[in-house]
Amino acid sequence: MIKYMTIKVTSDDFFFDGLSKEGNTDNPFGFGATQGNVLAFPGLNTLGLSMNRVDLARGGINAPHSHPRASESVVVIKGKVLVGFVSTSNVYYYKVLTEGEMFIIPRGLVHFQYNVGHSKAILLTAFNSQLPGAVIVSRTLFASNPPIPLEILTKTFQVDDGVINSIESKFA
Ligand code: GLV
Ligand code: MN
Repeated sequence: MIKYMTIKVTSDDFFFDGLSKEGNTDNPFGFGATQGNVLAFPGLNTLGLSMNRVDLARGGINAPHSHPRASESVVVIKGKVLVGFVSTSNVYYYKVLTEGEMFIIPRGLVHFQYNVGHSKAILLTAFNSQLPGAVIVSRTLFASNPPIPLEILTKTFQVDDGVINSIESKFA
């Protein structure tokens, strides 16, 4: 006999109020992100979409990163933001966006957002994945656990140990 488990789904499973709250930008990057993905609320499960809120202090940056499982649509809600990505042909595409304007980041490409306005900025980002994942370039290379061998990084960047140690110390 097959037994079915009864799962009680409620309206709250499809609701998330996290994007209404300002993220904490009190860090060296002036950056705060709130992720509205399937880990935040289960209503997104199997639907192939999710959204984030990004807060940038004046001069703040969402440092270069990529999403292995999604393309991203960026809409500026408040402020003036430089949004850029680099293609697989190594072409840099970018735009300065103001309120209501949108820019697309194709799946997997390294991109960033930089507040170039005179006040705080807010962005909403939408993804065609319930869990897009994020690979932050600087943390991947300089703050992995365990660390990438020093020799790999000195050879990759053609610099000596001191340069790599100095960068790594910023992410310790
Ligand atoms: C912005 O790039 C984000 O990933 O939310
Ligand atoms: Mn992103």
